[in-house]
Amino acid sequence: MKIARFSRIGFILAAAGSAVGLGNIWKFPYITGENGGGAFVLIYLCTITFIGLSLFIAEVLLGKAARNDVVSSFETLAPKNGHLWKYAGFMIFTGVLILSFYTIVIGWILKYIVVSFTALPTSIKDAGDAFGTMVSTETLTQFIFFTIAFFITIFIVKKGIKKGIEKVNLILMPLLIFILLGLFLYSTTLAGFSQAISFLFVPDWSKVTDTTVLKAVGHAFFTLSLGMGTIMTYAASLPNHTNILKASISVAVIDTAIALIAGVVIFSFLFNAGAQPAAGPGLVFISLPPVFASFGVLGNVFSVTFFVALAFAGITSAVSIVEPTVLYMTSRFNVSRTKALFILGSVAYICGSMALLSNIKEFASYVTFGGKGFFNILDFASSSIMLPLGGIIIAIFVGFVMPKERVYKLLKDYMNDTVFNIWYFLIKFITPIAVLMVMINKIFF
Ligand code: PHE
Repeated sequence: MKIARFSRIGFILAAAGSAVGLGNIWKFPYITGENGGGAFVLIYLCTITFIGLSLFIAEVLLGKAARNDVVSSFETLAPKNGHLWKYAGFMIFTGVLILSFYTIVIGWILKYIVVSFTALPTSIKDAGDAFGTMVSTETLTQFIFFTIAFFITIFIVKKGIKKGIEKVNLILMPLLIFILLGLFLYSTTLAGFSQAISFLFVPDWSKVTDTTVLKAVGHAFFTLSLGMGTIMTYAASLPNHTNILKASISVAVIDTAIALIAGVVIFSFLFNAGAQPAAGPGLVFISLPPVFASFGVLGNVFSVTFFVALAFAGITSAVSIVEPTVLYMTSRFNVSRTKALFILGSVAYICGSMALLSNIKEFASYVTFGGKGFFNILDFASSSIMLPLGGIIIAIFVGFVMPKERVYKLLKDYMNDTVFNIWYFLIKFITPIAVLMVMINKIFF
């Protein structure tokens, strides 16, 4: 099967669109808040540079070398035992799990876009109550917005790499950057701006605990969409002469810059209102609306703009979560994209519905297993087990299974020998060990 090719900028925007998601704008600020700010940011920057980037290069290399779906890529690139290595392609199914809860969160964001047109809650308590009530009691509303988010994602993927994914990213990514830069420029005029800068960039080492480093590693590759074949799948459509190193660095830089800009914007607004940085996962849903409310009508404009940007970021990531499985099904079983999406979509929609119900009081007991709600199970199983496992397998495959000369040949045009040797050392030893540490820490502690 012939795989469509991105344009050069199309690949970078699509890969950046995948990387920049809820992880950057929703998750990065709150985990930074919980882990003491500057010191966490510094550790995160190091892990992106040394672990995330090397794994990213590895995925691009595999995708470009095989130009195939993830399962077939492992099968054909393994020098021997391809029939066994194809099972490494299991990692694409992580996408079904992530999609299920990711679209629920995008649904919340869509609801908040609508809410932004009405009177916003004026206190943190009211905002917390509103968010809590929505998540734990408003079944129908959540289903409506979850379903909308779900179908937007499926619809874009159905249109394919060129007409769907590339086109949407070409429009939404520049818009997202434009909105965030606008909010950023405004935030520089706020009194909270300098406090936000020192919170994010002046490290306070006393706040660093033993799990801070591990959290940073885990987030580094969640935010770069690593460990489930997304980047491999997009790289299968990489134009021939794209410089793998430069493209990978560009995506990592865009991803990191957006996380930092989102952090500065959110903390400037928060400190301006005297709110607390360590508000946890509800940070953007609970802490921001009252801050926006204090700006009057202008606050409604900020609120709509902010949540629209967040929805764009989420949708461009959601499509990248679906594509690896769709490519696998269409290329291995010769089914149409529509049929593949119907099968995959049905499974993810059922999982998503169970996850949604697990947050609702009356239904929670039916979808709670081993004391954990299904929503949390999906989140935990994917980010703490499946993605890290996928990351380790990719690192081992590139570092130990593929012959070094083959890997060298694929990269030599884009980096000199010193850079290659550093990268090879990182992918062979540092990445698998660091990721293993993250997994053990997350599962047992
Ligand atoms: N990188 C996305 C984010 O930061 C999440 C994601 C994970 C997307 C894995 C694709 C694959 O939100």
